[in-house]
Amino acid sequence: MDGPQGARSQGAKILPLRRGAPKGVAAGSPRTRIQPPAHAWALVADEMVRSEHELIALLGSRVEQVAEIGRYLARSGGKRIRPLLTVLGARACGVGGDLSRLMSVGEMIHLASLLHDDVVDSAPTRRGEPAAHMVHGNALVILSGDYCLARAVLLAAEEGGHECVRHLAQAVAAMSEGEVLQLQRAGRLDTSLEDYLQIIEAKSAALISWCAAAGAHILEDEHLASRMEAFGRSVGVAFQVTDDVLDYGGELAQTGKEPGADLMDRKLTLPLLYAFEATPGLQTRLEERPPTREELPELLEIVHDSGALERSLAYARDLVDVGIDQLSPLPDTPYKQALIDLATYLAERAS
Ligand code: IPE
Ligand code: IPE
Ligand code: MG
Ligand code: MG
Repeated sequence: MDGPQGARSQGAKILPLRRGAPKGVAAGSPRTRIQPPAHAWALVADEMVRSEHELIALLGSRVEQVAEIGRYLARSGGKRIRPLLTVLGARACGVGGDLSRLMSVGEMIHLASLLHDDVVDSAPTRRGEPAAHMVHGNALVILSGDYCLARAVLLAAEEGGHECVRHLAQAVAAMSEGEVLQLQRAGRLDTSLEDYLQIIEAKSAALISWCAAAGAHILEDEHLASRMEAFGRSVGVAFQVTDDVLDYGGELAQTGKEPGADLMDRKLTLPLLYAFEATPGLQTRLEERPPTREELPELLEIVHDSGALERSLAYARDLVDVGIDQLSPLPDTPYKQALIDLATYLAERAS
């Protein structure tokens, strides 16, 4: 199986991955994370700050328990790539005016999806801290996730109008479908590359695609919107592939999540698919029974040694190139360049 263009990028930097037992690669602190390209952020710094204030306000509620989850989310950090992508995408398309409220829409949906996803995955940690459900319980976290989701949709309607909210609703529906498809396939190690790509396109890339195209939806420019969506889709799939690589830990991985969770769940992601291709007997071994905690270090080492992580990262980088090609009709502006740099970062990030 080759990359998305049938060829790997030459000479691109590979994220060095730690070999051997994953000691010392446990959850990192959000404060130490590598941030998105600084100059891309600097270009829209004022709006990023304003949008952060909007986000904090949106997470508030007159119901104290909902507001408590909101404070937890506001405190826990995060890279804020969705607001950044929203503003850079809109500016690159020529949208003017204050976008700080619109920028919070994608992040609110993202936060809702993280609340729900950590319940679904029984994830103990998120962003280097105990996941919200570990502290506040499933019921409160699920309902607060719904609250974030509803506030985001309302905001999209107010700030972006009909096309914007219509596409957002489609993205949210796709996210739910993607999560359900993935759940159905848990432990199914015969999942194909096509099935995997379908799942990650729905659960992750749909929202990233919406963020990239939100400005074009406001302009009601269908042609431009479909290019921005295609850009966001490719970059979003690449982003999730990299996320799946980071799940296997590594020297530079600072995700704030426990490494090896996908392997313990026998969740077939691209790294494992490539590891099966390179390692005779590995698929059969995992099919027989789920791994034990004791076996995890050895299994992680097998995947690291198979070259599957480097191969997956090359796949992600190729996909980013496919996405960037979609931006060719846009005028050359600092916003377009920042968008390209952000897309490149998303496939090479360590957190
Ligand atoms: C993590 O997203 C969940 C995925 C969709 C892969 P991010 O990596 O954007 O998470 P934060 O917001 O920076 O923590
Ligand atoms: C991404 O799924 C989360 C959503 C898109 C909702 P994962 O389960 O793979 O992501 P992490 O590893 O928990 O961040
Ligand atoms: Mg998860
Ligand atoms: Mg999940």
